Amino acid sequence: MRLTLVAGARPNFMKIAPLMREIRRVNASDGADISVRLVHTGQHYDANMSGQFFDQLGIPPPQANLEVGSGSQAEQTAQIMVRFEKDLAANPCDLLLVVGDVTSTMACTIVAKKMNTAVAHVEAGIRSFDMTMPEEINRMVTDALADQFFTTSRHANEQLRRSGTSEERIHFVGNTMIDSLVFSLPRLVPPAVWGDLGLAAGGYAVVTLHRPANVDVPVTLRRLLDEVSAAVRGAPVIFPVHPRTRKALAQMPGWSNIHQVEPMGYFEFMYLVKNARAVLTDSGGIQEETTYLGVPCLTLRDNTERPETALVGTNEIIGTNPAAIAPALERVFAGAWKKGGIPELWDGKAAERIIATVRRLASAQVGAQ
Ligand code: UD1
Repeated sequence: MRLTLVAGARPNFMKIAPLMREIRRVNASDGADISVRLVHTGQHYDANMSGQFFDQLGIPPPQANLEVGSGSQAEQTAQIMVRFEKDLAANPCDLLLVVGDVTSTMACTIVAKKMNTAVAHVEAGIRSFDMTMPEEINRMVTDALADQFFTTSRHANEQLRRSGTSEERIHFVGNTMIDSLVFSLPRLVPPAVWGDLGLAAGGYAVVTLHRPANVDVPVTLRRLLDEVSAAVRGAPVIFPVHPRTRKALAQMPGWSNIHQVEPMGYFEFMYLVKNARAVLTDSGGIQEETTYLGVPCLTLRDNTERPETALVGTNEIIGTNPAAIAPALERVFAGAWKKGGIPELWDGKAAERIIATVRRLASAQVGAQ
C-alpha cells in the first residue's frame, strides 16, 4: 500500500518518528509492503525547530519539502494547500496519515479529501473548546473530514462519538509522543546550559511559552515572567525561547534568574525536563511528557485538550492569572504536589498499534473489492 505522511511543525516530528520506524520494521521483518512518502510542509524550517529532530529521532529525509515558511494563518494554510495539492496529484496514495493539530495537519487533510484520498488522523478527538486557539480550529476541521481516527485517550473517543463518528472508525491506540519519549530515555544528554550554570537534578525550573494568548501581548508575557522569577525562591529558571516568543522578549529588560536559551534538541530538552523540580508551560506536548516522567507541570492556560494529564498525571491547569503561580510553586517546594500516574496505553507502543490497524484496514478493503 502507498502511504503518505505529513509533518510540518516541531511537535509533529516526535509523532511521525515512531510511525516511520514501525513501517520500516514491518516491511523488513513482518512481510509488509508499505511504500511511504514523507512530506515536510516547511511550516517550521530553522535547524533548531526542525532539522535536529530529524537527526536525533532517525527520521529519514523527506521525499518532498514544500518550503512554505512563515506567514499569517491564512497565508500558511493557503500555501500548504496549493503546494500539497500538486505533490499529491503527482504522487497519489492510498492513505494520508496526518498527526497533531498544527496548520499543516488541517491544510493537507482538506486537500486530500477534495482529491478523494482517505485520511487517518493521529491524535484525533482532543478538544480544548477554546476557539481562540488556532489549533482547536485545526482539530475540528481535521476531525470533520478524516476517515479513520487514532486516539490517545478515552476522552478523545468520547468526543468523537459525541460528534457523530461511528465506532468502527475510532481506534484507541495510545500516544505516539510517548513512543518517542520512551525511545529517547536511554539517549538523553544534558544541554549546554546544564554545564554552563552547574545545574543539578531538582535544583531548577523550566519554563516554555509560545501560545499567542501568552506571548503576543508584551505586558501579559512580562507579568507572567515577573511572577515566575519572584516565585522560584532564587532557583535558576531555564527558558528555551520559541521564535514567536523571542520577538516579544526583545523589547524587555530580562530577569537575572531566568536564563533565556535557544530552542533545544529533543534529547537535551527532555533531559532538562526529566530532572526539573517543576515545569511551567503553555505547550500541549509538554503536559503529556511531564505526566509520563512524573514531573510537576504547571500549565499556564485556562483549559487543556489533554484532561488525562491533570486527572491522572502530574499536570495542573493553573490558568493565565500570574497571581496563581506563587501558591502553586509553594506546593511544589513543600513537596505537596500530587504524584500522578501514567494514562492508559501510554506505553511506547502506539505506533505499533497504528500500523497494525492500517494494515488490517487495507487488507479488509482489498478483501471487499
Ligand atoms: C506552531 C503550531 C503550534 C505548535 C507550535 C510548536 C499552528 C497553528 N501552531 O505554532 O500548535 O505548538 O508550532 O512550536 O500550527 N518561526 C521561525 N522559525 C521556524 C518556525 C517558526 O522563526 O522554524 C517563527 C515564524 O516566523 C513565526 C513564529 O515563529 O513568526 C511562529 O511560527 P508558526 O509556525 O506560525 O506558529 P507557532 O507559534 O510556532
